[in-house]
Amino acid sequence: MRLTIIVPTFNEAPNVPELVRRTSAALAGIDAEILFVDDSTDGTADAVRTASGAAPLPVRVIHRDAPRGGLGGAVLEGFAAAAADLCLVMDGDLQHPPEKIPEMLERFERGDVDVVVASRYAGGGTAHGLADRTRVFVSKVSTALTRAMFPIRLRTVTDPMTGFFLVDRRRLDLATLKPRGFKILLEMLARQNLSVAEVPFDFADRHAGESKASLRQGLHFMTQLTALRFGKMSLFAVIGGVGALANVAIVWALTHWGVDYIVAAIIAAEATIIGNFVLQERFVFADMRGEASGVWARFAKSFTFNNAEAAIRIPIIAVMVESWHFSAVVATALTLVVAFVVRFVFHSLVVYAP
Ligand code: GDD
Ligand code: MN
Repeated sequence: MRLTIIVPTFNEAPNVPELVRRTSAALAGIDAEILFVDDSTDGTADAVRTASGAAPLPVRVIHRDAPRGGLGGAVLEGFAAAAADLCLVMDGDLQHPPEKIPEMLERFERGDVDVVVASRYAGGGTAHGLADRTRVFVSKVSTALTRAMFPIRLRTVTDPMTGFFLVDRRRLDLATLKPRGFKILLEMLARQNLSVAEVPFDFADRHAGESKASLRQGLHFMTQLTALRFGKMSLFAVIGGVGALANVAIVWALTHWGVDYIVAAIIAAEATIIGNFVLQERFVFADMRGEASGVWARFAKSFTFNNAEAAIRIPIIAVMVESWHFSAVVATALTLVVAFVVRFVFHSLVVYAP
C-alpha cells in the first residue's frame, strides 16, 4: 500500500459519504486506503462502515471509546495503525479538498522534503472557510506569533497550524510527540527538524455540521506553545540568574576596592548585560541565529533593550513604592519577573527573528 489517508472525526456522520466519494475519485489509480480515527457519539463509525461497502478502495474506521489527546491523539493513533508509511492527514468535513491530494503526493515524491503542508497562507491559498472575522484574526495572529517563536524551524512554513499535510511516518519520532488538542503538525515541526514544502489550497466551507474549535482548544494551544518553548525559557532563566549573581559579586568587589557604588553598579550592570548576551548566543538561541542578521546587529538590539529596560524599571519601582505602597523588595521582585518575561519575548521575537 502506497498511501494512507488519515481522517480524524468527531461527529461528522453527514460528511462521511461525500468525503469517501470525493477522496476515492481523487485517488483513482493510486494504491491507497482511507482510515478514520473516530471519537464520535453520532454514529460516524457506522456511516463509515456503510460508505466503505460501495467504495473502490479500502476504508477502515478505528472507533475510540476512551479518546485520548483529542484530534492530535487521533492522528497519532492513525499513524500507528496506517497500512502505508506515507500518511496524509485531512479533516473530515471537506474543508480540505481531497482533489489537492495528488498534487501533494507529487510534490512529496520529488524526494527532497520530509513533509508537504497544504497551506491557507501560501501564495494562492485562501482561508475563506474560517467563517467569521474573529477567527480569521485569531488564526492570523496566532500563526504570526507561532512563527516568530520558532523562526528557524518554521522559516519555510506559512501555515504551521493547518490540519492538512503529508508525511512519511518513518521520519517521525512518534514517542516524542505530545498531542494536545488540534495542532499536531506544529508539535511535529517544533520538536523535530523536518524539511517542509508547501502547496497552497483553498480552505473551503464546511460540508455539514459545525467546527469543534473552541476557547478550550485555544487554551490547549497556548499550553502547547509554552511547553514547546519552555526548554528555552528555563535556560534563559538560569543564565539570567547567573547574571544576577555576577552583578552582585562585581558590585561587591569594586566597592571593596574603593570604587564609588553608583559607578560600581553601572559597571556591573553593563558587564552582566554583555556576559548574558554571550551566553544566550551560545546556549539559548544557538539554533535560532539566522543568517538574516549578524552578531553585532543582535548585540546592538539586545544591549539597547536591556539598558532601556533597566532604566525604565527604576522609576517604575519608585512609583510602586511611593504611590502604591509596595515594599521595595516586593516591587523589585515583581518588576524583575515581568522584565524577565518581556526580555525573553523580545529576544525570541526581535533579536533572534529571522
Ligand atoms: N478523532 C477526533 N477527536 N477528531 C476530532 C476531534 C476529536 O476530539 N475534534 C475535532 N476532530 C476532527 C473533526 O471532526 C474534523 O474532522 C477535524 O478534526 C477538524 O475539526 P474542525 O472542527 O472541523 O476544526 P476547524 O475546521 O475549526 O479547524 C481545522 O482546520 C484548521 C485549518 O486547517 C483544524 O484542523 C485546525 O487544527 C486547523 O488549524
Ligand atoms: Mn473544519
